[in-house]
Order: sequence, then C-alpha cells, then structure tokens
Amino acid sequence: MERLDKLLASTGRWSRREVKGLVKEGRVLIDGVPAAAPDQKLDPSLSRIMVDGEELTIQKFTYVMLHKPAGVLSATEDPRQETVLDLLPPELQRRGLFPVGRLDKDSEGLLLLTNDGDLAHRLLSPKRHVDKVYYICTDRPLNPSDVDAFAQGIVLSDGTTCLPAGLELLGDGSEALVTLHEGKFHQIKRMIASQGAAVCRLKRLSMGTLVLDEFLKPGEFRLLTGEEVSKLGGKP
Ligand code: URA
Repeated sequence: MERLDKLLASTGRWSRREVKGLVKEGRVLIDGVPAAAPDQKLDPSLSRIMVDGEELTIQKFTYVMLHKPAGVLSATEDPRQETVLDLLPPELQRRGLFPVGRLDKDSEGLLLLTNDGDLAHRLLSPKRHVDKVYYICTDRPLNPSDVDAFAQGIVLSDGTTCLPAGLELLGDGSEALVTLHEGKFHQIKRMIASQGAAVCRLKRLSMGTLVLDEFLKPGEFRLLTGEEVSKLGGKP
C-alpha cells in the first residue's frame, strides 16, 4: 500500500503540493470514488486511479537513456556546472533519478538514469561483471601488443590491477572498441596511459544489454522501452 500523493508525484506530472489541490477539488477518483485525502493509502496494482477523467498507469520506477554530451557532469546536482539532470525536463527531474555509473565530464555516450536503486546496484556490482563497450580515439595507433596487454589485465601506474579487458582495433588502430567488465575511476584513460598513449575521445556505446540508440543526438534522451527494462532486469 502506498500514499496517493506519493504515487501521483512519482509520475512526475504533479508535485505533492499540487496533488493536495487536485484531491481537494475532487479531481482524483479511486475506483470511481473521489479520493478522500492526499495521504490515502492504496495498492496501485489493484485500484484504478483517474485524474480529470484520465486513467493513470503508475510505474514504480523510471528508466531514461541519455546520450550524454561531452562537457556535462555525471551528477545529480552541482552548484556551478551543468549536470546530466539539467538536460531533463522538470517532470523527469522530480523523480529522483540518478546516473547509473559515471562518465567523465569530457566523455560522451550512453548514460542510464533511473530511480531503481536495486537495478543500479546490480549493474554496477563488480561481482556481476556487466560488460560496458566504449569507442575510443587515441593520439597514436594502438597495436597488437596493446591488445595483448588489455587481455592480460593492465596494471595501472598506482599498482591497481584491472580485470582482463577487450581491445578491438579499428582502421589504423587510432580508433578502437574497449570492453570493460568493471568501472574504475578514469579506467580507460589510465589503461591507455599505461601503454604510453592518450585518449582523445571516449564514447560509451553499451552497458550490458542496453545499447545507445543511434537516433539520439548528444544531449537527447528517451525512456527505455518495456523490453529494454526487462532485459536489463528492471521492473517495466
Ligand atoms: N573510462 C574513462 O577513462 N572514462 C570514462 O568516462 C569511462 C571509462
């Protein structure tokens, strides 16, 4: 059982204060009967909620795919800099979304935002080894010995050992696809630095079963489809 105001606010369409007004004005019906109070408890899977004659489908969680542009922080708020949450409209900003894992400020690509803490935990847990694939450009062509080093497990300059990772060279080797099974701070940049090269561009293409939608331009977002949510292990 959940509070009516919490449920309606979770749609992102109204604040809790606005829900209070709707209830007072008799605009919210529960199973055909005007809601008694904003804190009324109900089971959304059993009751029909209507607002101004429109039936609401209440989804417990929200899942957003964002094509993160370079130059924006992977954070929920920051006093000075633009964050990925600033790229979403107010009704989504109100839902308590947070980025699942971080991309560096200058990195681009797939970022999942959700308020499903369990799913985020599962996707980020080092034990689960969820594959993340990145496209990178480097300042010198990488070569088969770099591929071997990635496959062995790179040791970073501070002594940290990385899990074996995939490195697939593209073209002359100045572009490549990297597959990581973990997520350490600046991991790819530090792995490439350990090979005496530098990353010029980094874009995440996928995370587990979730693939960046090619139709999303940098800065654009869309909700995940039910199928994408199910495949990831969320609650559609
Ligand atoms: N590795 C990095 O170095 N940066 C990212 O943003 C993601 C992976």
